Amino acid sequence: MSAAPFTILLLGKNGQVGWELQRSLAPLGRVVALDRASTAHCGDLSQLDALAETVRQVRPNVIVNAAAHTAVDKAESEPELARTLNALAPAVLAQEAQKLGAWLLHYSTDYVFDGSGDQPWREDDATGPLNTYGRTKLEGEQLIAQHCERHLILRTSWVYAARGGNFAKTMLRLAQERERLTVINDQIGAPTGADLLADVSAHLIRQVSRTDHSAGVYHLTASGSTSWHGYAEHVIAAARGKRPLSVTEIAPVPTSAFPTPARRPANSRLDTTRLQTTFGLTLPPWQQGVDRMLAEIL
Ligand SMILES: NC(=O)c1ccc[n+]([C@@H]2O[C@H](COP(=O)([O-])OP(=O)(O)OC[C@H]3O[C@@H](n4cnc5c(N)ncnc54)[C@H](OP(=O)(O)O)[C@@H]3O)[C@@H](O)[C@H]2O)c1
Repeated sequence: MSAAPFTILLLGKNGQVGWELQRSLAPLGRVVALDRASTAHCGDLSQLDALAETVRQVRPNVIVNAAAHTAVDKAESEPELARTLNALAPAVLAQEAQKLGAWLLHYSTDYVFDGSGDQPWREDDATGPLNTYGRTKLEGEQLIAQHCERHLILRTSWVYAARGGNFAKTMLRLAQERERLTVINDQIGAPTGADLLADVSAHLIRQVSRTDHSAGVYHLTASGSTSWHGYAEHVIAAARGKRPLSVTEIAPVPTSAFPTPARRPANSRLDTTRLQTTFGLTLPPWQQGVDRMLAEIL
């Protein structure tokens, strides 16, 4: 009898990162990719028993969880659902992965931090989430670490993808409609492509499944940092001459100009040294990925 193929169970296959993972994981083995609506197996993170059953049936070598409750403001009014998706479901995946001796690769967020200071956050820095999304994502991290030895938790920030809506597309639309834009300039982070996250995830899976070490929490973003205002300026500069723009002024404003139900951290910088040195990878500057995305959409 031939050995079972190396199998990866991917949850959240149609999200920004999940979509790119369908591409990047394909060469590694058999990928069972699910979303909430899948019928062959349950991929709905709110159905905890059925989710556990899915893992038992698929018997993956690796689980990649790209599904989450990512609506940061909505999470404030539905904290129980956010906790189920962001903490309890990852705990179920961790318990089932542990029973199989499988790896669990999961994504978390800079929102586990309080956003104080101006230094990039390191993995071991004290957490202090400001909102429900951040609190539930942090609990998810803790439950995974508690239940599954072979875990990789990748904290990222400011994720965009060419597919679907994103900040750059919104800025391009507004720059065509309006003469003056106001954009927040006191939140700092690194715009990070879903494609970069997916490619690095595939590298990590390849490495950990061969060496069987390096479990833990890692920060993974593109290099460098900017504000939303700097990001908007970059995008609109790239569109000049390619789109009929009306905008003549991009005014920087503080976060308080756009009140939202959930508080956001001001300092979303993440120090990615641990990931780069542990896995021998180089993370490109954020402009590189954004420019590639713009080349596709402009
Ligand atoms: N986006 C960011 O800026 C950002 C920043 C830091 C960290 N992260 C983390 O990165 C990971 C990937 O995020 P992303 O940007 O790819 O998010 P995304 O595009 O919002 O994808 C999340 C996916 O989860 C799915 N989902 C929601 N409820 C579900 C349920 N009950 N069962 C199964 N699937 C469900 C969504 O499906 P529907 O579309 O059908 O709801 C969506 O496909 C997440 O862990 C997120 O917390 C994201």
